[in-house]
Amino acid sequence: MQNAEFKMQMRSRAARLLFGSAVFSFCILTFALPATAQHETASDIQDGGRVFRQSCANCHGPDGNEIPGIDLGRRVVKTAKTDEDLVRIIQKGVPGTPMPATNMSDEQVKRVVAYLRSTAATKTSATAVGDASRGKALFEGKGGCSTSIPSPCR
Ligand code: HEC
Repeated sequence: MQNAEFKMQMRSRAARLLFGSAVFSFCILTFALPATAQHETASDIQDGGRVFRQSCANCHGPDGNEIPGIDLGRRVVKTAKTDEDLVRIIQKGVPGTPMPATNMSDEQVKRVVAYLRSTAATKTSATAVGDASRGKALFEGKGGCSTSIPSPCR
């Protein structure tokens, strides 16, 4: 009996610990990473932005979100998980798609990635707030929020 109780207690403590460390790593990821990642100078980022507008924006759009499923400014990509992946993809392209290989140096590509990272950092808050027009469409559309009574939205 007591033993079972003890186990329960341990389990909930473990859960709390797990939750705590999840919150902790979330905070680290959200706040510390952009700060530690700032070894690129502002001019590197500016330079990356210039390269992006010259070589990438014609396909990806000035905000990097004009190819379906990809929103470079918000770090929404299909396969690239890390900055290294991004560098590799930008240098080698994506075979079988219009995404071209480039002959940019590592340094140049890293500046583009720094630029994308800096725009991602400034745009995540906007993403969290959500896309108002999409919400509105859902509200007025399939969700049936504005018509059905009782409303499923309250
Ligand atoms: C000729 C058009 C074109 C140009 C120029 C171009 N891209 Fe792309 N890019 C694409 C297409 C199309 C895809 C989607 C490929 C796919 O379907 O997987 C893509 C995919 C990507 C991806 C996502 C890879 C993934 O993980 O799925 C990244 C990152 C990317 N491009 C960055 C860049 C950068 C940075 C530049 C400029 C140096 C650039 N692209 C120039 C067309 C282009």
